[in-house]
Amino acid sequence: MATNFRRNHLSLLCLIPLFLSLFFGQSIAVDILKAGQSINDTQVIVSAGNKFELGFFTDPKPSNFKYLGIWYKEIPDVVVWVANRDNPIVNSSATLKLNGDGNLILVNQTGSAFWTSNNPIVSVQDPVAQLLDSGNLVLRDSNSGSEDYAWQSFDYPFDTLLSGMKLGWDSKSGLNRKLISRKNPSDLSSGELSYGVNIDGLPELVVRKGNKTIFRGGPWFGDGFARARSERANFIYNASFEITYSYDSPNSEPWRAVLDPGGFVIHSEWSGVDRAWKKLYTFEGSGCNDYELCGNFGLCNSVLLANCDCLDGFEQKSAQNFSDGCVRKDEKTCRAGEGFKKISDVKLPESTGNLVKIKVGIQNCEKECLNDCSCLAYGTLDLPNVGPTCVTWFDRLLDVRRVRDPGTGDGLFVRVAASELESSTGKRTVLVVVGTISAMIFFALISCFIIRSIRRRGRDNGVAITEDLVHDNELEMPIAMIEAATNNFSISNKIGEGGFGPVYKGTLPTGQEIAVKKLAESSHQGQQEFKNEVLFVSQLQHRNLVKLLGFCIHREETLLIYEYMPNKSLDYFLFDDQRRSVLNWTMKKDIIIGIARGLLYLHRDSRLRIIHRDLKAANILLDGEMKPKISDFGIARMFGEDQMETKTQRVVGTYGYMSPEYAIDGCFSFKSDVYSFGVLVLEIVSSKKNKGFFHSEHQLNLLGHAWKLWNEEKALELIDGEVGDQMQEHEALKYINIGLLCVQGRPKDRPIMSSVLSMLESDTMELIHPKQPGFYEDRFVLSDFDPLLDHKSTSTSNNVTITLLDDGR
Ligand SMILES: *[C@@H]1O[C@H](CO)[C@@H](O)[C@H](O)[C@H]1NC(C)=O
Ligand SMILES: *[C@@H]1O[C@H](CO)[C@@H](O)[C@H](O)[C@H]1NC(C)=O
Ligand SMILES: *[C@@H]1O[C@H](CO)[C@@H](O)[C@H](O)[C@H]1NC(C)=O
Ligand SMILES: *[C@@H]1O[C@H](CO)[C@@H](O)[C@H](O)[C@H]1NC(C)=O
Ligand SMILES: *[C@@H]1O[C@H](CO)[C@@H](O)[C@H](O)[C@H]1NC(C)=O
Ligand SMILES: *[C@@H]1O[C@H](CO)[C@@H](O)[C@H](O)[C@H]1NC(C)=O
Repeated sequence: MATNFRRNHLSLLCLIPLFLSLFFGQSIAVDILKAGQSINDTQVIVSAGNKFELGFFTDPKPSNFKYLGIWYKEIPDVVVWVANRDNPIVNSSATLKLNGDGNLILVNQTGSAFWTSNNPIVSVQDPVAQLLDSGNLVLRDSNSGSEDYAWQSFDYPFDTLLSGMKLGWDSKSGLNRKLISRKNPSDLSSGELSYGVNIDGLPELVVRKGNKTIFRGGPWFGDGFARARSERANFIYNASFEITYSYDSPNSEPWRAVLDPGGFVIHSEWSGVDRAWKKLYTFEGSGCNDYELCGNFGLCNSVLLANCDCLDGFEQKSAQNFSDGCVRKDEKTCRAGEGFKKISDVKLPESTGNLVKIKVGIQNCEKECLNDCSCLAYGTLDLPNVGPTCVTWFDRLLDVRRVRDPGTGDGLFVRVAASELESSTGKRTVLVVVGTISAMIFFALISCFIIRSIRRRGRDNGVAITEDLVHDNELEMPIAMIEAATNNFSISNKIGEGGFGPVYKGTLPTGQEIAVKKLAESSHQGQQEFKNEVLFVSQLQHRNLVKLLGFCIHREETLLIYEYMPNKSLDYFLFDDQRRSVLNWTMKKDIIIGIARGLLYLHRDSRLRIIHRDLKAANILLDGEMKPKISDFGIARMFGEDQMETKTQRVVGTYGYMSPEYAIDGCFSFKSDVYSFGVLVLEIVSSKKNKGFFHSEHQLNLLGHAWKLWNEEKALELIDGEVGDQMQEHEALKYINIGLLCVQGRPKDRPIMSSVLSMLESDTMELIHPKQPGFYEDRFVLSDFDPLLDHKSTSTSNNVTITLLDDGR
């Protein structure tokens, strides 16, 4: 029977072009409708391989409700697509026409339109409509053989997914394609249920009723995904372009997945032998898949029957009703000692909207979640075109279940109180004790085993999981992703021009906003050394440092990717006549202290002990709460510690912030940064720029002016009038004093950052008389220097070119 069928099939293939109309009576001889042609409701179009038919049908069967649809030629009862499912033609004949403008239009006897293809691409030269063997009805240019269709029925699904048809979103069509169920088994108009791809959050397949989730398939690209996924299923995550799912059936027999009105997604294949549909599997929301079964913080387990439990650290809210979910055993959150417990092999929780944050890179995933009191849990995925990604959950943890097939789930790290972690430490101790007893017997063998078990337990408890697992490839981002994120570095995305090159704003596929710095110079030594430096610098984590998220080396260019700061930079506010009033005295103090903390971290507390070398107002970025974050640290280091002097003989820095010893000798130390910090302090309290400072009575720059006022005991005049009444005099004097101490001419006279910070934080600091600042006149000409710099001779300035970079990022 099967062979018979196939033979028929083949012979038909050969006959189609010429004789089809003879064999099939009312059917049009070809699979194509040309411009101006039409079919009436007794005619059909047949795809070239005789697989599908396009035509009219009534539903219910004997009725006067007429629809245009596509069905299997062999199985005419199975309609896979309907054009006008919500707008049937009643009591009239019907015609489908292809207009000259390239649109299909469905009309009744008197010419009223009941449906049109609304082809968005207006100018198709010589339009044709073609029914393909895939069941796709397409509109294209007759000369174009490409799959670049002006319109296709696959973009407007009915309740049926066919092999090769995509669900989900792409940027080209702008559509998010979903199956929509029938209203009920005997009414094919649109019901409330949909089956599609979640594109708002983590990608996954989801069945919804309206906008309420009924059940979810679980996010793609987690650990278990690779083991569980079908080879035939295509999961595309190219987030700026498309997020789609499709399935390529391996057989030539018809394959379909139908969302039925009960909310089941039934996958089946046609058996030509049995002339019947064979159910392959059903994706359905029963048992643990039921989205609402176990409620918030619940954990569904299923052996034979679904059974609701709670995530570690939680307990059932009510004994009667699992759907009420769970609550924390220990209600107080965000206290010392909290940590994470790993729950292995689960379907990760619901991830739509603001329930999740998605960030590129996983090296600080745990820390980030821990530092944010509202973060409930974290996990990791390996998103294509993005790389390892940290996902953090907020607000609720919904619909977590143990997966049915071991190994096909992911690890979820749930925040728990210190007491919860202690209980697992207890277990660990027992293990060690048992181990010790055993060790008396089989020492060597057993101890090895114990160490391994402890390590494994340690990981199971979610303690210190990712910290040391950073690889450079995790930070390296593909150029395509950066281009997509920044709109191909479009001018409208440019947010600044910094000392090292332009800066662009971008949005990663995950929604995370980034700032991309294009470094003009690519003279760095080995790429590997450079990568190592980036890697080190990326591990510097402090709340007053801008986070480096990654890098990209592409041809001659090097790109650094940072977190994006919404409030621009300090200079944007400080030196603008209107905006400076935004900064009140408290903010100014916080900004100064924040910068000092960040700098101290760089100088002393970080593993690398970094000298910034270009500290200035433009490099102090402000986050959403106007907290300062130092940017551009470590760039000099990335390019090789001493390269700027010895190889290119350039000193990079910014006029107005450069210490004398750096500007003249190219000789920098931690104290050069202290000098720049002092300049910043004076600029912040006065809201004036050191560079270009003008005073009618003298030629001094801001530092000179401040020093002069200090000596005349009028230092408070330096304070920006806008904040004059918000501060205490002693406090203001303290800040000016600290600023002046930091800009003193000799490096050894300047305090180190730890002293600066303790002075800033002290309420009772005794004022100290500062010595004369370095550079205190406005103009600086190399030959004028010597008198200012008593501590040094003129040895070196001839072989150092000073590159003065303008302000601005
Ligand atoms: C449909 O078109 C065919 C071919 O033009 C014609 O023979 C037939 O009568 C038409 N049927 C109706 C109901 O108009
Ligand atoms: C169609 O015809 C039936 C019977 O002739 C009539 O009851 C019904 O109202 C008609 N419907 C429309 C939309 O014209
Ligand atoms: C065609 O449709 C229009 C709009 O629904 C309707 O007014 C008209 O009566 C229909 N023509 C026939 C012949 O049913
Ligand atoms: C979808 O959600 C929005 C807001 O959350 C709500 O206003 C709207 O009524 C919902 N629509 C449906 C069909 O449930
Ligand atoms: C992402 O999609 C775009 C547009 O379709 C394509 O040009 C690009 O190659 C895709 N990227 C990857 C990595 O597949
Ligand atoms: C259980 O709680 C859910 C919502 O919390 C409610 O919709 C449902 O009716 C309750 N079931 C019973 C048996 O009380």
